[in-house]
Amino acid sequence: MASFSYPFLLCVLVWSQIGICLGSKVYVVYMGSKTGEDPDEIMRNNHQILASVHGGSVEQAQASHVYSYRHGFRGFAARLTDDQVSQISKMPGVVSVFPNCKRVLHTTHSWDFMGLLDDDTMEVLGYDTKNQVNIVVGFIDTGKKEESFPNRIWPESPSFSDVGMPPVPASWKGRCQPGEAFNSSTCNRKLIGARYYMSGYRSEEEDLGNTDIVSFRSARDSTGHGSHTSSIAAGRYVANMNYKGLAAGGARGGAPMARIAMYKTCWDSGCYDVDLLAAFDDAIRDGVNILSLSLGPDAPQGDYFSDAISVGSFHAASHGILVVASAGNQGWPASATNLAPWMLTVAASSTDRDFTSDIILENGRNLTGESLSLVGMKDPTSIISASEVNAGYFTPYQSSYCLESSLNSTKARGKVLVCRHAESSMESKLEKSIVVKEAGGVGMILIDEEDKNIAIPFTIPSAIVGRRTGAHILSYINRTRTPLSRIMPAKTVLGSQPAPRVAAFSSKGPNALTPEILKPDVTAPGLNILAAWSPAAGRLEFNILSGTSMACPHVTGIATLVKAVHPSWSPSAIKSAIMTTASALDKKRSPILVDPDGKRGNAFDYGSGFMNPTKVLDPGLVYDAHPSDYIGFLCSIGYDEKSLQQITGYNTTCDHHSLVTASDLNYPSITVPNLKDEMSVTRTVTNVGKPKSVYRARVSLPRGINVTVVPDRLVFTSFEQKMKFTVTFKVAAPTKGYAFGFLSWRSRRSRVVSPLVVRVANSDSGLLR
Ligand SMILES: *[C@@H]1O[C@H](CO)[C@@H](O)[C@H](O)[C@H]1NC(C)=O
Ligand SMILES: *[C@@H]1O[C@H](CO)[C@@H](O)[C@H](O)[C@H]1NC(C)=O
Ligand SMILES: *[C@@H]1O[C@H](CO)[C@@H](O)[C@H](O)[C@H]1NC(C)=O
Ligand SMILES: *[C@@H]1O[C@H](CO)[C@@H](O)[C@H](O)[C@H]1NC(C)=O
Ligand SMILES: *[C@@H]1O[C@H](CO)[C@@H](O)[C@H](O)[C@H]1NC(C)=O
Ligand SMILES: *[C@@H]1O[C@H](CO)[C@@H](O)[C@H](O)[C@H]1NC(C)=O
Repeated sequence: MASFSYPFLLCVLVWSQIGICLGSKVYVVYMGSKTGEDPDEIMRNNHQILASVHGGSVEQAQASHVYSYRHGFRGFAARLTDDQVSQISKMPGVVSVFPNCKRVLHTTHSWDFMGLLDDDTMEVLGYDTKNQVNIVVGFIDTGKKEESFPNRIWPESPSFSDVGMPPVPASWKGRCQPGEAFNSSTCNRKLIGARYYMSGYRSEEEDLGNTDIVSFRSARDSTGHGSHTSSIAAGRYVANMNYKGLAAGGARGGAPMARIAMYKTCWDSGCYDVDLLAAFDDAIRDGVNILSLSLGPDAPQGDYFSDAISVGSFHAASHGILVVASAGNQGWPASATNLAPWMLTVAASSTDRDFTSDIILENGRNLTGESLSLVGMKDPTSIISASEVNAGYFTPYQSSYCLESSLNSTKARGKVLVCRHAESSMESKLEKSIVVKEAGGVGMILIDEEDKNIAIPFTIPSAIVGRRTGAHILSYINRTRTPLSRIMPAKTVLGSQPAPRVAAFSSKGPNALTPEILKPDVTAPGLNILAAWSPAAGRLEFNILSGTSMACPHVTGIATLVKAVHPSWSPSAIKSAIMTTASALDKKRSPILVDPDGKRGNAFDYGSGFMNPTKVLDPGLVYDAHPSDYIGFLCSIGYDEKSLQQITGYNTTCDHHSLVTASDLNYPSITVPNLKDEMSVTRTVTNVGKPKSVYRARVSLPRGINVTVVPDRLVFTSFEQKMKFTVTFKVAAPTKGYAFGFLSWRSRRSRVVSPLVVRVANSDSGLLR
């Protein structure tokens, strides 16, 4: 059944191959599910396929082979010519052949991001979460900072201590792979597995002429990202965690007694598909329960079976592993990635803590900027716009951005400079403070045109201000004979603004691949997050970062607790619990706002809403889905039976499984992107609360749409009883673009809420297509 979105899929596929993976000579040959073959047999078959395209040469076949995937799914990675790619694509058993694309960590410029761990919300009263010690959380990331460095400057990271932890679960099949500054005894009862993958990275980067490309040929973290994300999800309690005295206090991960397994696939410049797939393959075999990926493709992502993360997570989900992933930091509509319905995709929002620096102008005005700079200025200091201090051939416009060598040090010396920043430029804000310092400047006020609200550890007294405050400062300078300003040291401010707010950088819906599935799914803290850090990267043991990378492990930690308390729940049941208990209201029960301009948000910003860790363990009802449901979903969006049989390893027929439309997937949110007059979707809920319970439907109508729910009362008499209902959408008034509402099932003790997202066909939304 071809759907209207299919041509769009093809177009994305072509785009991603041309646009992002240009020049790659390494390919993934994906061959679907592993069905009972012996891993060695799979290896031999892979070599035979390779030999057959190398004119029978076993040596050439071996030389071109990079990885074999043989545990969670089938396939291999190899260096191939275009001609070999086209030969292999036609072979029986091959689902897809796709180039080895590079992925990015979802912290944008890693140094430019900061925040705070919201430790207050991690308590779970009334539940026994001791079973955490039997849950293994896998991180596909940059590795793990585990113990001290030879220089002994940084003590052992207390976030990964195994004090008081019982022996490793007997079912664990992972290993602690030795490597540089890492041996098999570097693991402990907390960090129970560590592997690293660099074959894909090396072959691509060496082709680009980059030598000396990896730091630590082992699972040791060289960039800090992996330590940060894993300590947010599952770090031990640390009594005195702080960043240079800011944000002081105790902090811990969401599931501090869970086990951590690190799969280091990301190196200094990113992560490659073939390495990511090898990590998924091992993680599935090792026996992880939850996988956390704070990385992904840049939008637009490739279709589900030409995208390594979608492929890997499909097989992980089929093996009962929940995959939690970040939505990305691209910020604009339809930029969300990691779009597959079998993943839990996370947007980023603020907490109620900000890091601010006061800026005192000599005219008596006090202004507030964002900063993590602990150095302040003692005296009022002359302030000047950077456009006035242009050097050499640089225009005032160019120097206003404080680009490298654009500043005249004769004019800049001893002054505070007002610089501009355009996010699209990809310039580093930290870098600008260095440019100003090198030009002799003693302070910097940075006008962030997109107002992203991110505190940065600048090297001189500095603060980031929004456009409006920036205009105020520039006009003060213009109107004043000797303008003076003073920048105060950064401080922590609690409860200053409505919170949470969705971060400006957080990637937004709609889903560019399958608009019937709402993405992102939920939002969690991702702005200015304090957590463990690699001393190799920044000479800091803890650091403050921002990004959907930081939001993702907050959800991973909570998902781990749900798994600990409800070990039999499927990945989609855990995901449903997190989604249906999330809230679209902020702490003051007003609608969640979105940075930078504070407009009211919608489901494309935050999915089902802000995760609520106090309710996830008792959601009342769950929307469950299993691999067979995903087959029906894939049939409905145009995948043919033959490739689905290979992907799933089942004798799948589409007519048996197929959904009427992709909107019918039993998903915890409901999206109808193309409503003509009237349409019905069905859902099935499973009772996981009190055996005898009664739920009534309440609907908040999307603008211009009538919604009826049949039946509108569900009477459950037993635990795990399933009930089906139908939601009918009818166009009631002409509407443009997407309209948002929600469906809430309410019993005496539970509320099970799903966002409703509807667009009337042929209305021009201006968002997509
Ligand atoms: C493993 O590393 C630790 C510290 O990094 C060191 O003390 C120990 O001797 C090493 N063990 C082996 C077998 O190399
Ligand atoms: C501005 O800040 C300074 C230093 O903190 C303080 O002394 C002064 O009263 C403030 N002025 C205003 C108008 O708030
Ligand atoms: C910097 O400014 C001074 C004083 O205005 C001027 O003499 C000098 O040529 C400028 N240097 C550059 C590199 O623009
Ligand atoms: C300063 O004010 C003048 C006159 O109002 C205006 O033309 C000029 O553009 C202003 N310059 C800046 C840097 O704001
Ligand atoms: C799948 O179908 C084929 C042909 O209809 C049959 O030979 C095979 O045994 C089936 N396999 C399974 C696992 O049902
Ligand atoms: C929508 O619902 C309203 C109120 O129940 C009703 O008056 C109206 O006729 C409905 N419109 C359509 C098109 O069904």
